[in-house]
Amino acid sequence: MTTSSSERGVSLGMPELPAPAYPDDVRARLEADAREIVSRYPDSRSALLPLLHLVQSEEGHVTRTGMRFCADVLGLTTAEVTAVATFYTMYRRRPSGDYQVGVCTNTLCAVMGGDAIFEELQEHLGVGNGETTGDGKVTLEHIECNAACDYAPVVMVNWEFFDNQTPDSARRLVDDLRAGRPVAPTRGARLCTFKETARILAGFPDERPGAVEESGSAGPASLVGLRLAKGETAAARVVHPRDGGPHEEPRDRKAPEPSPAEQPVSHDASRETSASDPSHPAGPAAEEGE
Ligand code: FES
Repeated sequence: MTTSSSERGVSLGMPELPAPAYPDDVRARLEADAREIVSRYPDSRSALLPLLHLVQSEEGHVTRTGMRFCADVLGLTTAEVTAVATFYTMYRRRPSGDYQVGVCTNTLCAVMGGDAIFEELQEHLGVGNGETTGDGKVTLEHIECNAACDYAPVVMVNWEFFDNQTPDSARRLVDDLRAGRPVAPTRGARLCTFKETARILAGFPDERPGAVEESGSAGPASLVGLRLAKGETAAARVVHPRDGGPHEEPRDRKAPEPSPAEQPVSHDASRETSASDPSHPAGPAAEEGE
């Protein structure tokens, strides 16, 4: 006598991923959230990426239970879900800290000091790449280019930017995070925990007062190329936030007023935080648009 594939606990020729189930109340809550996410897409499988953020917001990383949940909701195999979850580095496969501290060690950041920052934090925190401090506060990792090369070297905490870092400023940053002292990114919205960030990335509203207004667009250094493309006079120099606030010095005439879309928003204003380091090796100003 033979048994069917379903009787043997397999589906579509693939073995089920062994994983404990969510408690009933957690599953019910996640199912309600998942229905809302799936309803945004004409094809349910398109909701996989935000669903993975959703399960990551529940446990701090994407567990086997989370992957099986996504597969159940979307009618996919766990192999299909696993293939996606292991492809994108924003999904963590191991338990992580409240603050994911990512040091960009791609080429530009690396030569501007990113490698030195990473080595400093490894030694200071006593953890390696992808590891979490014993207090569960900080997970350290290499990250790839985050399109902020004009502010290199860049450190990101839960995907918020800390520009123009040095080993000293990065060490102060992680000390502040571990001590629970207020820390503000150089630009972008204020920090929240990794789980809270994952829920926002799943597509749910950012409930923090004022956070949406703090988000905004690119900083002045990033907009130089756009202004050149528009035929405007290039700014001779872009002064970085650590030197008293971002502003551009005109080369031979007053720079035209920025369009409303380019108006600096609140996050572009200088903030005195651990992100600022007056002794940054890049010097007081970087040449742009040359
Ligand atoms: S190389 Fe670091 S942000 Fe681009």
